[in-house]
Parts: sequence; structure tokens; C-alpha cells
Amino acid sequence: MERSFLMVKPDGVQRGFIGEIVKRFEQKGFQLVGAKLIQITKEQAELHYAEHTGKDFFERLVTFITSGPAFAMVWEGDQVVALSRIMIGKTNSMDAAPGTIRGDFAVHTNFNLIHGSDSLESAQREIANFFSEQELVSYSKSI
Ligand code: CMP
Repeated sequence: MERSFLMVKPDGVQRGFIGEIVKRFEQKGFQLVGAKLIQITKEQAELHYAEHTGKDFFERLVTFITSGPAFAMVWEGDQVVALSRIMIGKTNSMDAAPGTIRGDFAVHTNFNLIHGSDSLESAQREIANFFSEQELVSYSKSI
């Protein structure tokens, strides 16, 4: 079973989108196996965005993601990595289709509400950056 790291970014928390975003993934049929409100450290942010190191927006990105609480989640389910990226929508808010989270609610690429892992490898690294094994649960749906 796949797991993905998803995070409501500080703009999404401040705009009150935690509930809406959790609802969409629950309704899709994915299972929440870990969640917490966190204040991301500079070290965690630099590791999380390591692929963007050196780009012109890197410092702005680290400053933004550490600027206030974020809601970190681990979701489980078939194809959750690829499907959650579709549900999130394109990075550039101008390209994000209606019906996606960014397409419906985001107007700026720098403030695009939510992060989702782009591959299984990224998901493993990102989950380990923000969660300990003890913070994740494993359960079967019984109802
Ligand atoms: P995300 O894909 O979650 O992670 C990297 C973030 O960098 C991206 O969302 C945007 O919020 C931000 N960003 C800002 N400028 C750019 C850019 N030119 N290209 C890609 N990402 C950008």
C-alpha cells in the first residue's frame, strides 16, 4: 500500500482550509495514518526543498514555509502519490484546473496551499523528515 506526505502550507492553515483539504482526501477514499500541526524548522525546510536549492525562489520558499504553522499529514491508499497530485493541481496557479485544490482556491504560485509528494521516493524521504515511526498508525477499515 502506498503512502504519501501531504501538507497544508501556512497560507492554507491561515485561510482555514485544513478541514476542506482533509475532507477531499477522505471522500476520495484515502486513509489518514498520521497528522499534526507543526512549526517547520529551517533545517527541515531546506531538506524538504533540497531539489530547489540555488534557485531564485529558494530563500523565499524556506522563509514562507517556516513563517507559521503547517498541517502535516500522511495518507495511505492505492496510487495515493499520483492521485493526490491530480487532486492538488498544477504548481502554477494559472494552470491549475477547476476541481483541483489549487484550481479552486489558490491564486498565487508562491501561496499554493498544499504540498504533495511527487514520487514514492520523495514520499519516503519527506515522511521521515516530518514524522517518527511511532507517530504513524496502521489500521484496517472495519465499518
Ligand atoms: P511545491 O511544488 O509544493 O514546492 C515548491 C514550491 O516552490 C512550489 O510548490 C511553489 O509554491 C514554489 N515556487 C515559487 N516559484 C516557483 C517556480 N518558479 N517554480 C516552481 N515552484 C515555485
